[in-house]
Amino acid sequence: MAGTGVLMLLFLVAHMLGNLKVFFGPEEFNSYAGWLRTIGEPVLHASWFLWLQRFGLIACVVLHGVAAYQLSRRDLAARPTRYQHRPPARASYATRTMRWGGVILALFIVWHILDLTTLTVNPLGKPHHPYENVVADFQVWYVNVIYIVAMLALGFHIRHGFWSAAQTLGANSRDRDRLLKVTANVLAVALTAGFIAVPVAVMIGVVS
Ligand code: HEM
Repeated sequence: MAGTGVLMLLFLVAHMLGNLKVFFGPEEFNSYAGWLRTIGEPVLHASWFLWLQRFGLIACVVLHGVAAYQLSRRDLAARPTRYQHRPPARASYATRTMRWGGVILALFIVWHILDLTTLTVNPLGKPHHPYENVVADFQVWYVNVIYIVAMLALGFHIRHGFWSAAQTLGANSRDRDRLLKVTANVLAVALTAGFIAVPVAVMIGVVS
């Protein structure tokens, strides 16, 4: 879970920063989207990097989900009878948030691909015009709700996930725990705010 989580986190940081190009207008955003299809050229053929990234991300999502399922099965098997007293509230809260957050994010990814990659559910759905498709998207109130709820779930997931991954990978120690927790919070807030900035900017007319 930790390894695939870290790889997806790296993708998200790059994706969030790339999305902020929407503030520089359609030309810059659309040409950035075009550039994404030329990464690796001339060593790689056009779009090969994009396809490698797609396969890599699909593998990460599947492995991450399978590992989460196996962990929760193991969790239940280790304690087949329920606690007489409730387990510490913080631990069960984090576990529940991670499970539900994971489900919300998996559903979001399916919606997001149908929306901005295949353009199946996008209100405009104009191929090779991602800027215009993004602007059309966030004119619709429920699309904003879907994205904003998913980004909040993402923030909580990253906050706890980063900390868990640090423990799994052995990065934590008494000296570093505080720094790791601060890093987890900063990453979660920066990613959530950076992603949400796009729908909010369209809603208030800063991006149109
Ligand atoms: C407000 C938030 C977001 C916006 C505005 C946004 C915007 C976009 C846009 C415009 C594209 C199409 C790029 C292109 O075809 O050139 C895209 C693709 C994608 N986004 Fe997002 N994104 C957001 C959040 C996320 C999140 C949170 C995730 C992951 C959990 C994500 C994962 C992806 C993936 C996997 C692709 C497909 C790339 C491909 O075509 O292979 N996005 N996004």
